Amino acid sequence: MHGPRSSKVLVMDFGAQYAQLIARRVREHHVFSEIVPHELKASEILKMDPKAIILSGGPKSVNLEHAPRIDPAILELGIPILGICYGAQLLASMLGGVVSRREAGEYGKIEMSVFESIGIMEGMPETTDVWMSHFDAVTDLPKGFQLLASTPDAPCAVFEDATRKITAVQFHPEVEHTVLGNKVFDNFLHRIALLESNWTNYSIIEEAIEKIQLQVGSSKVICALSGGVDSSVAAALVHRAVGKQLHCVFVDTGLMREGEAKTVEHTFREQFEIDLISVDASNRFFSQLEGVIDPERKRKIIGESFIRIFEETALEIRDAKYLVQGTLYPDVIESGTKTAARIKSHHNVGGLPDDIDFELVEPLRELFKDEVRAIGEELGLPEEIVWRQPFPGPGLAVRVVGEVTRERVAIVRAADRIVGEEVTRANLDKRALWQSFAVLADIRSVGVMGDERSYAYPIILRAVASSDAMTADWARLPYDLLERISSRIVSEVPGVNRVVYDITSKPPATIEWE
Ligand code: XMP
Repeated sequence: MHGPRSSKVLVMDFGAQYAQLIARRVREHHVFSEIVPHELKASEILKMDPKAIILSGGPKSVNLEHAPRIDPAILELGIPILGICYGAQLLASMLGGVVSRREAGEYGKIEMSVFESIGIMEGMPETTDVWMSHFDAVTDLPKGFQLLASTPDAPCAVFEDATRKITAVQFHPEVEHTVLGNKVFDNFLHRIALLESNWTNYSIIEEAIEKIQLQVGSSKVICALSGGVDSSVAAALVHRAVGKQLHCVFVDTGLMREGEAKTVEHTFREQFEIDLISVDASNRFFSQLEGVIDPERKRKIIGESFIRIFEETALEIRDAKYLVQGTLYPDVIESGTKTAARIKSHHNVGGLPDDIDFELVEPLRELFKDEVRAIGEELGLPEEIVWRQPFPGPGLAVRVVGEVTRERVAIVRAADRIVGEEVTRANLDKRALWQSFAVLADIRSVGVMGDERSYAYPIILRAVASSDAMTADWARLPYDLLERISSRIVSEVPGVNRVVYDITSKPPATIEWE
């Protein structure tokens, strides 16, 4: 072991939209950060040994009778504290300041005047734009605090007690619109809390390897590879930790994107030299999907077949005790439990049932998606896996409206490849475009190609911007990109004579069509 992590920052959550973002910003400064409920007692906090605490924003007013608070003893622990928005008001209120309802709140970008560029405001110019979202404001400071900055409707926008290392900002340093937000985190983490930046890709990998080795000892471990980034990075990490003890299973459903099965086989078998059992189960899937058009039935059939095939194959790997899952930190936060059931029904492996007798290895449980990608790159996984867009477990079957046949899947796969190639060529920001893909409809329309009348299927083009797939906006793709995609699909994919663009957001639509 390299010893315990030397620095951990706890983000105490008051129901903020931005708690995850705060944790990510801290991690971007290479300091480990974890989100915890605000109800934790001082004694529980001490056990976790954080080197700093951040109080998040939240929707309530601190003056309400049942407003969420923290255990007052936390303020006496001597741990540096940063309060953000609601967190700032809570600090003021608990330490003897005054929080009042203002006539007008502040929402959006506001110019802030900085009186003292010290402490949390070290290095700040006299004025800077910050992102605000508040109705109440701190109007009187608690004793011992110094006022550092204000805005028109937040007279005490930034205040600090340098001796106790308690500091408060009314604005949101974690959002991009706060121009110098990074500097605020830098000041808090490095100048006030004096933390070391040692949470790096390298240390994440080292730590994960030690944990995995400790957990599995000399037992066999299996992993269902899906070709997606989470299961791939999880497998690569476990392989780095236990080498030949890892056995991977890849079920080729025949419903994958073009080249996906080959990439998985090549990467894991040849590049990583992992023992990979690849099962071509496409016949089984297509025959079970024959005549099925109901989306939920498709999903159910595919999920169940997947499990059965995985189980059959896993039996060939004798004495395997552990199963790798690519669970990410947001899943852990959302499920609200630190100790999930032995097997969580997880769409990554098609929803394995509870009674499978494996213990879980979840090496990505503490990581956000972008961190997973970064360590995937570090581990040498190819870009096409690391940067692959999310893809539904049931694969192209839910992108073929109507009956799923080998021929119809081939059509949507070819169209999807063209969409992918053109989007890549257009160099769109990978982060801005969450997904872009083709859907095959089950209606036909009349067209004319050459001198011939055609009567063929349309391809529906779907492209969305999103940060978490919970909501999504249809992407404003450039017209010339749309044109290239459309003309290539119609001329290169037999059976398609029209391309339409889906301009519906989520909600009310979903991202996938089924
Ligand atoms: P919807 O269509 O519900 O999709 O807006 C939200 C996100 O989830 C993906 N998706 C799935 N991912 N297994 C998965 O791992 C599934 O069964 C599944 N269905 C949808 C979808 O691509 C989008 O990113």
